[in-house]
Amino acid sequence: MTVPAQAGTVVSAARKPLQFPLAVHPDDRKKRAAHAALDYLTDGVVVGVGTGSTVNHFIDALAGIRGRIAGAVSSSEASTARLGATGIEVLDLNSVGSLELYVDGADEATAHRHLIKGGGGALTREKIVAAASRRFVCIVDDSKLVDVLGRFPLPVEVIPMARSFVARQLSMRGGRPVWRERFVTDNGNHILDVHNLTILDPPALESEINQIPGVVTVGLFARRPADVLLIGEAAGVKRL
Ligand code: 5RP
Repeated sequence: MTVPAQAGTVVSAARKPLQFPLAVHPDDRKKRAAHAALDYLTDGVVVGVGTGSTVNHFIDALAGIRGRIAGAVSSSEASTARLGATGIEVLDLNSVGSLELYVDGADEATAHRHLIKGGGGALTREKIVAAASRRFVCIVDDSKLVDVLGRFPLPVEVIPMARSFVARQLSMRGGRPVWRERFVTDNGNHILDVHNLTILDPPALESEINQIPGVVTVGLFARRPADVLLIGEAAGVKRL
């Protein structure tokens, strides 16, 4: 027989308390991963900053230590605005050269640190900043971890006039592209979200889709995967 006590604890008939993990809200798991990324910062660094709700937690955490960093390179207008509001200087990638560290979230991630990104539509600038960075730390909650990429529709940024052509090319490869209507990227382009994919060879598919004329960027990050994956869980943060 057990007697309910305070949340998170049950007391057995023998009065021995048993602990069990409280449900941790997904947003708190994102926050845990974001805060763990602060450990990868070195003093005086210019840090690359991704986009999304997980990264927003990272930006908020950066605000508390902004005196320790020289500034940030942003991957989107949204992150630029949030960084600016915290008083962190946003620098142009052209003026800083290569970066020590890039921190960004993902829509799906595998244990190989291959990612699907672009749910927020910032994939092109994210891929540029990731490529320009020596270390890419990806921060996710544990709902993002998958064995095989593709359940999350794969975002592809396209030049607007090529949208239908690229969509036909993606259909021929077994995908079901859906135009993200009323959405324009920071670069003035459109997004196709490709459903029905089971991505068994992410680097190969990344190269193949990148070859289609009119594609600006595919949201597969496999040829340049994350270097570190920080996964926020109910019990803490796991590092892969
Ligand atoms: C934006 C992205 C984001 O990293 C991705 O969508 C994850 O977002 P969130 O942290 O809100 O779950 O790729 O283009």
